[in-house]
Amino acid sequence: MNMRNFASLAAGAALIALAAGSAKAAEEVEVLHWWTAGGEAAALNVLKENLAKEGVSWKDMPVAGGSGVQAMTALRARVTSGDPPTAVQMLGFDIRDWAEQGVVGNLDELAEKQGWAKVIPEALQAFSKYDDHWIAAPVNVHSTNWLWLNKAAFDKAGGKEPANIEELIALLDKFKEQGLTPLAHGGQPWQDGTLWESVVLSTGGMDFYKKAVIDLDPAALSGDQMKQVFDTMSKLRTYFDPNFSGRDWNLSTALVIEGKAGAQQMGDWSKGEWLRADKKPGTDFVCMRFPGTQGNVLFNADQFVMFDVGEEKRDAQMKLASAVEDPAFQIAFNTVKGSVPARTDVPGDQFDDCGKKGIKDVADAAKAGTLVGSLAHGYAQPGAVKEAVFDVITQHLNGQIDTATALKRLPEAVAAAK
Ligand code: BGC
Repeated sequence: MNMRNFASLAAGAALIALAAGSAKAAEEVEVLHWWTAGGEAAALNVLKENLAKEGVSWKDMPVAGGSGVQAMTALRARVTSGDPPTAVQMLGFDIRDWAEQGVVGNLDELAEKQGWAKVIPEALQAFSKYDDHWIAAPVNVHSTNWLWLNKAAFDKAGGKEPANIEELIALLDKFKEQGLTPLAHGGQPWQDGTLWESVVLSTGGMDFYKKAVIDLDPAALSGDQMKQVFDTMSKLRTYFDPNFSGRDWNLSTALVIEGKAGAQQMGDWSKGEWLRADKKPGTDFVCMRFPGTQGNVLFNADQFVMFDVGEEKRDAQMKLASAVEDPAFQIAFNTVKGSVPARTDVPGDQFDDCGKKGIKDVADAAKAGTLVGSLAHGYAQPGAVKEAVFDVITQHLNGQIDTATALKRLPEAVAAAK
């Protein structure tokens, strides 16, 4: 071969390599999420592996912090600098906020082809779509009004599921007698809010939850029932251990798993930690609706919002969205994560008893009109209102303000944030 031929061959090879390189770069998704606890990471691996099989590589952007508060701050910085990630784990009203800013992609073609509208519950679609266009792929349905019990401690305490707050308090007293931390709680605003919304639901039922949390009725936010809610929060606070401040939710779950604490109030992502520790529902732990809330579901659904990242990354983006809505993935992911499928057509037979209960509860509540958005996880109010409510709850729980002040501040804070 003469030098000239060699040079043109080499140039051709370089071009092919370049083309292959850029094709490869296009087949990558950068995903911002807050699934950093053991059970969460295990569930996310299912998605990473499925995408790898499709030739799409995964650039991880984890931002720790339950309920995604820190993740949303990180996202703001990326979007402001004109460099959004490909896809972002997001909840409820945050999805709407970003859609309003005109920076999200469009999933209509894929959603239409795969018939998402027929299988995604209306309550989720209300957030997965904006202006009648699909902008997010829902992954799951979680719910927050759950209580998790260490089975051995629970059996020792008589093994009867508490039916209301009074019975819950009696059970916590028994855990105390056993020398345990009765209630494992992590003092972070979103966790305080998660506990509070279960107490609201238990205290006044769904009508009261809707009046106070959805309608933001000032009388409901400051009346007798709300007084009872704050009194219960003060009482529950006496069952925490001294190290609760700032503790991550999964570390509290670990205390219950290890038998150092009796119970934890937390969303069903908590189950992911139990499973990760090789524990079985009914044998090692008990899942039950927070006492007094059976029949009602405060939901939050993780969704992947696709950002407008340009044509060359669209193919990988659609592969991600498609992988998320694949029925087999919905089973593989949600059995590990603790949530239930976002699709209503996915069979539940591979789920454990807690998962089966979750699926049935969500379906029943959807029919009964008692499937309502969680405030603490972004499905009841926009971020500003949520944060304003958190401030009052957390200050009260930490003893910085008394109940009378909390009742005065709550409607004021909400009105200012609306
Ligand atoms: C998310 C869950 C997550 C939990 C704790 C919730 O807001 O919806 O997927 O496991 O926060 O990180």
